[in-house]
Amino acid sequence: MGMNILIVGGGGREHALAWKIAQSPLVDKIYAAPGNPGIARHAELVSIAVDDVAALRAFAIEKKVGLVVVGPEIPLVLGLSDALGASGIPVFGPDRAGAQLEGSKVFMKEMLSSCGIPTAAFKVFDEYDDAEQYVLTHRLPVVIKADGLAAGKGVAVAGTYEEALVFLRQVMVDRIFGESGDRVVIEECLPGEEASYIVFTDGEKVVPLPSSQDHKRIGDDDAGPNTGGMGAYSPAPVVTPEIDRRVMAEVFEPLLAGLRAAGIRYRGILYAGLMIDRGIPRVLEFNVRFGDPEAQPLFLRMKNDLVPLMLQCAQGNLTDATLEIDPRPAVCVVMASSGYPGAYAKGLAITGIEEAEAVADVHVFHAGTAMRDGGLVTSGGRVLGVTAIGDDLRVAIGNAYRAVDLIDWEGAYYRADIGKKALAGGGYR
Ligand code: AMP
Ligand code: GLY
Repeated sequence: MGMNILIVGGGGREHALAWKIAQSPLVDKIYAAPGNPGIARHAELVSIAVDDVAALRAFAIEKKVGLVVVGPEIPLVLGLSDALGASGIPVFGPDRAGAQLEGSKVFMKEMLSSCGIPTAAFKVFDEYDDAEQYVLTHRLPVVIKADGLAAGKGVAVAGTYEEALVFLRQVMVDRIFGESGDRVVIEECLPGEEASYIVFTDGEKVVPLPSSQDHKRIGDDDAGPNTGGMGAYSPAPVVTPEIDRRVMAEVFEPLLAGLRAAGIRYRGILYAGLMIDRGIPRVLEFNVRFGDPEAQPLFLRMKNDLVPLMLQCAQGNLTDATLEIDPRPAVCVVMASSGYPGAYAKGLAITGIEEAEAVADVHVFHAGTAMRDGGLVTSGGRVLGVTAIGDDLRVAIGNAYRAVDLIDWEGAYYRADIGKKALAGGGYR
């Protein structure tokens, strides 16, 4: 008999996780809390919120869950792994101490600096007046980061002092992110191209996923405000074999050694947001979970069974095995609600998903969808992740957009240039 798995989360990343985990012969039953209508095809939905640690733990015990897979960062920062671990339930995702790598920018920067890992020069402030004074002496653009979680909105790359001070004031005085604004990191702006470097780890061994790249801005050609991610592709040509080697040696090895020295045994996904400039990778941030939407194209390329890998991370016995990766590139185009990342309408009827899924090599992952009166409607900013694989990147992009064209709701918005940046280069992994 297989094992029961509980997936925590209900976005596009979790739909991709559910789709991939459902292919494992080791699995008996999949639960998802709270899940979404796409996830419901692979899992039984459980109406527990991702931040209800006590209820998630009780449910996992009741259903004899053999592995809990945590999608988003919030439950990890709240200590879900600690709670499950105390009950003897294997969990894929770091404990509260490890999750501080994403939960506190100050912790992350101090860890980087004490491990000698290349990152932007920075200073930490807990008083508005001191921070203001420092900002005004800083070269522009200047980067300001709220210490704690801020739903992806806690960073400003300010091109003028006015913009910098407005953001600083919102964070430290108006407290728009609450206590996440108790402290700020102020740092230099790094030039270069970004890439997502995501690895499995049990705190000792590291097994890297293929390279990928997100599209953070809302508009084509990277215009407009930051979002949770408007699309992704894998591989990312900017991650050359030399960058690969350097990231393992200069980022992950020293970081895991530093974490172990601090008494932290990190288990799960570790995602380094890199800025790569003239062959030098520097760390912008860490996430303690899969990227969303990077997970969607990555899982289309990954041939291994996810479940044994996750169990090995959870149990601290990750082997050296490298991943078996489809050499073909994959791309995910996010379809979003009109107005996102600002205010947007919900409850709009979605059409055409079945037709889109009939396009060869395409999977449509649900992010912000809900069922209403038997029909599928929008319920979030990012609504769908239309994901495709193809013999080359051009073909993958073509497949994805052919499917996107078949899907509609009032005001559906997507970027038209996902993957364009990579068309020039090949991408090796
Ligand atoms: P973070 O949440 O730290 O990844 O920041 C969000 C986004 O802000 C990143 O994906 C980058 O695009 C940008 N960013 C953060 N820090 C810097 C930096 N030091 N230099 C340039 N861009 C940055
Ligand atoms: N796509 C960026 C993230 O997941 O943080």
